[in-house]
Amino acid sequence: MMTNPILVLGATGKTGARIAARLEAQGLPVRRGSRNAEIPFDWNAPETWGPVLAGVSAVYISYYPDIAVPGAVETVEAFVAQARTAGIGKLVLLTGRGEYHAQQAEEVVRHSGVPFTIVRAAWFAQNFSEGALHAPVMAGVLPMPGGDVQEPIVDVDDIADVAVAALLGDGHDGQLYEVTGPHLMTFAEVAEALTAAAGRQIAHVPISFEDFHAALVASQGELIADILTGIARETLDGRNAHLTDGVQRALGRPPRDFTTFATAAARSGAWADAA
Ligand SMILES: NC(=O)c1ccc[n+]([C@@H]2O[C@H](COP(=O)([O-])OP(=O)(O)OC[C@H]3O[C@@H](n4cnc5c(N)ncnc54)[C@H](OP(=O)(O)O)[C@@H]3O)[C@@H](O)[C@H]2O)c1
Repeated sequence: MMTNPILVLGATGKTGARIAARLEAQGLPVRRGSRNAEIPFDWNAPETWGPVLAGVSAVYISYYPDIAVPGAVETVEAFVAQARTAGIGKLVLLTGRGEYHAQQAEEVVRHSGVPFTIVRAAWFAQNFSEGALHAPVMAGVLPMPGGDVQEPIVDVDDIADVAVAALLGDGHDGQLYEVTGPHLMTFAEVAEALTAAAGRQIAHVPISFEDFHAALVASQGELIADILTGIARETLDGRNAHLTDGVQRALGRPPRDFTTFATAAARSGAWADAA
């Protein structure tokens, strides 16, 4: 029986909250990585890293605001070095597909000397229900750049299942799980699926990257708008328009599809207060 806690970074976020809940449901001790936790963790305050790493058996690493932002690799590298010194037995790193900086962060973990698993994810379905694209969905208009590019949107519940398997199970060390949903979807098709699930019109509006940025500034602020637009520019060029088998390989089952996600999110009230 595992007695040392597992450190889950971003434990109040989309992936971390689900991972922490799954581990605790199995009766496992979890140390929640959050600026507001009992032992606070802040990426921008390296003096907080030692206390959260003390006595921990394994770490789930999700970087905030995004693993692809300049400076993230260096910060993750410093954190991973400290984790190694602290004797951590396993690292599970969340990254994004087709992102140059994200893949540099993967190399840091790969060469850390600590047993590791990398979970390299497609666009999250929950961006539309909990994340930066929730506000546009609530407004009934989904302005997206990238034209007719297809993206194999992945359900964060699948990411959490893969991360938990990697943290707890044998056979995942050294693996790179590139996780996607089961279908390629254009953003027009995403809007159609959201419309059907939410029971009201959510219109897809093709826009330029410049207009995408401007819309995000209004709802998310300049920093997040810069980051998300940079990632959109980098990845919505067709490079990620193919399916991968990471969920199947890690879990022995296929990934959940977007319609199943959207139906469940609507039932749980994700878009309930829309005008
Ligand atoms: N969204 C996508 O489509 C997508 C796709 C592929 C990969 N990713 C990757 O997913 C990662 C984000 O994971 P997520 O979506 O699960 O997280 P998230 O929902 O964005 O949650 C943010 C988490 O970060 C924590 N946080 C905020 N500021 C922090 C700071 N200064 N120091 C420490 N923690 C801080 C928050 O905790 P407190 O506020 O409680 O401190 C919260 O738990 C990114 O690295 C991104 O590259 C995202």
